[in-house]
Amino acid sequence: MAPHDAADPPLEAMFKSYYNAVTAGNAMKPSSISQEKDVYAFSGADLLVDWAIENGMPVHGHTLVWHTQSPQWLNMNPDGTPLTRAQAKANLESFITTVAGHFSGRVHSWDVANEAFTDSVAEGVAWRDALRETPWYQAYANGADESSGEHPGDYLYDAFVCARLADPHAILYYLDFNEEYAGKREAMAGMTEEFNELWKTDARNTEPDRLLVEGLGLQAHYWTDEIKAANVEATIQRFIETGAVLSIAELDIPFGTYGTYLARTEAPTEDELAFQADLYRQLFEIFVKYADAIERVTIWGLADSLSWRGAGYPVLFDRYYDPKPTYFSVMGVVEDDTPPVTEPGEEPTPAPSEDAATPAPTATPPAEEPPEDASGFPGGLVAAIIAAAVLAVGLVVFFVRKKPKA
Ligand code: GLA
Repeated sequence: MAPHDAADPPLEAMFKSYYNAVTAGNAMKPSSISQEKDVYAFSGADLLVDWAIENGMPVHGHTLVWHTQSPQWLNMNPDGTPLTRAQAKANLESFITTVAGHFSGRVHSWDVANEAFTDSVAEGVAWRDALRETPWYQAYANGADESSGEHPGDYLYDAFVCARLADPHAILYYLDFNEEYAGKREAMAGMTEEFNELWKTDARNTEPDRLLVEGLGLQAHYWTDEIKAANVEATIQRFIETGAVLSIAELDIPFGTYGTYLARTEAPTEDELAFQADLYRQLFEIFVKYADAIERVTIWGLADSLSWRGAGYPVLFDRYYDPKPTYFSVMGVVEDDTPPVTEPGEEPTPAPSEDAATPAPTATPPAEEPPEDASGFPGGLVAAIIAAAVLAVGLVVFFVRKKPKA
């Protein structure tokens, strides 16, 4: 969700009607909060966090350490060369202490680090060897004393420790994509287990029974032509073994694959929509099965037209903000534990309108093209992404508060 969405009556009403936890699409990323050393701008993020709190919705903070949408001062010199390890460590500590400290007590959880591993990780590769050579990694390599065990990937442990010290209330997550594949799954789990072991004897740990990496986030950016529910289940099972709680953090399932979806010019057929709805059903059946371990399911985009992958029609509502078969499929699982309400080929039932908080379908459809990403995310596709999340506390997956009238 973006701060301006809270001031857009149809979007605000839709959000309040269908969702009950908030992740900022961009407003809490490092580049949205600080462009210059020791200069912080919290107004956009504060607007969103205050709105969420006023409306009783927990906020998930996204994200503190990432290789993109992050200001250069954190880990690079003005000419783009890496800072030294000591300089980067000092900046990491001051950034996380300031940002996590600012939101302390107001956020439920944080993605402390996002996408630290390479896009794909081959099976059997040790987690340290699977790390992306991010600007943080390069700076931490610049002056690392490898003979005494220092490694460029140490920035990740430092980040988690700083976040814990700055906001002991927040649940600390590691988040990544392609998590459904065995190589990345093991890298994420291995790092989590190692950090939690290290933390047990860390002198800064004042809560011996508490993990350091307490949460693992599955980005869940899937594709209709690729996703296998069994792989997602295997990842959930492996992550549960680490002792962490889980979140399905950015779920969307566009039609096709990475290589094909942008070439698509036609709206999906009824059969395709039914196929997509069935994939959502399969996934939500798994999420419900492991509900004791999953504290949140977030859909990455309030409607297809507002999604960063809008060309693939990936989420639960269409460009008129009407519910799609995917929506009914999810509702069929989470509310009744029964098969999807919408059968293949059947028209979806309109959203409920008896409640003032529920918007009627908008008279003017939102723009077909996702709006420009104000934060300058490379790739040009990213809109003001709305992350709409589901019951964020209580370790239960539930998604939408109201069931549409039949
Ligand atoms: C990743 C990030 C998100 C978002 C998407 C693209 O998944 O975690 O914040 O930037 O990429 O929109």
